[in-house]
Amino acid sequence: MKNAALITGASSGIGKELALIHASKKRDLVIVARRAEELEAMKEEIIKKYGVEVLVLPCDLMQIGAAKKIFDALKEQNIEIHYLFNNAGLGGYGKFYERDRNKEVDMIQLNIVALTELTHLFLPEMIARNRGKILNTASTAGFIPGPMQSVYFATKAYVVSFSQGIAQEVSTNGISVTALCPGPVRTEFEKEAGMEGSGLFKKAATAISTAQKGYSGMEKGKLIVITEYSLRFALNWLLPFAPRKMVMRAIEKMQTIK
Ligand SMILES: NC(=O)c1ccc[n+]([C@@H]2O[C@H](COP(=O)([O-])OP(=O)(O)OC[C@H]3O[C@@H](n4cnc5c(N)ncnc54)[C@H](OP(=O)(O)O)[C@@H]3O)[C@@H](O)[C@H]2O)c1
Repeated sequence: MKNAALITGASSGIGKELALIHASKKRDLVIVARRAEELEAMKEEIIKKYGVEVLVLPCDLMQIGAAKKIFDALKEQNIEIHYLFNNAGLGGYGKFYERDRNKEVDMIQLNIVALTELTHLFLPEMIARNRGKILNTASTAGFIPGPMQSVYFATKAYVVSFSQGIAQEVSTNGISVTALCPGPVRTEFEKEAGMEGSGLFKKAATAISTAQKGYSGMEKGKLIVITEYSLRFALNWLLPFAPRKMVMRAIEKMQTIK
């Protein structure tokens, strides 16, 4: 494989668009998600359209040890990963104390643990090659606490913090780490998180524009990509000056589904 990317959550939404962009640049792909049929259909579409190599690795990243299984499968086939897209993730709506504890733990496993393990597994070989790019899909949720999605917002705060920390550590090793921070995006996420009917998604961005901004930011080696101008402005220029309790009340109101 040439210039291969490992993309998690490639079966739909932002991850699928990231995969298509990568393939359009004549770079090979390893695509990961749970739904094997979706991945196989994508593989066929990508090969037909772009003629690159695609390996499908169906995998549930909520399972303990999943990241190592992916790593071992690629080692066995001598596949080198030059681009790592830690994109798989999901949300979950509701008051923390009313939500199913196992669902919260699974979310942490997927949004934090799998992402951390995959990064830890693939970074050493990138460092040895003095070359590599990592794009972690975080969220603008990573900059603020999120009543009604408290665990989800906290997982994304981890991704934003972790990405910046390691970006600095590897900055002299020819490697860039970028945190992609979209606002609401129209994908399967809304339904999966139980947020259909939330006003938040009325003006949601498209998966393709979000992926384009993320991919381009990654290629430029940007640390953080906040995809919408209005959100960049609000997070950088309004949020730091607003009283915290007022912000929390506003976010809770925005997220509450009537
Ligand atoms: N949509 C938004 O408003 C929004 C905003 C900011 C950030 N984000 C972030 O963007 C990323 C992509 O989400 P999306 O909006 O594109 O939603 P999506 O269409 O629901 O895509 C989520 C992807 O993650 C995969 N996935 C879910 N659980 C998995 C598991 N246990 N193991 C392996 N793969 C799993 C899904 O595939 P399978 O179901 O086939 O496993 C799917 O490919 C997430 O990290 C999300 O937090 C989304």
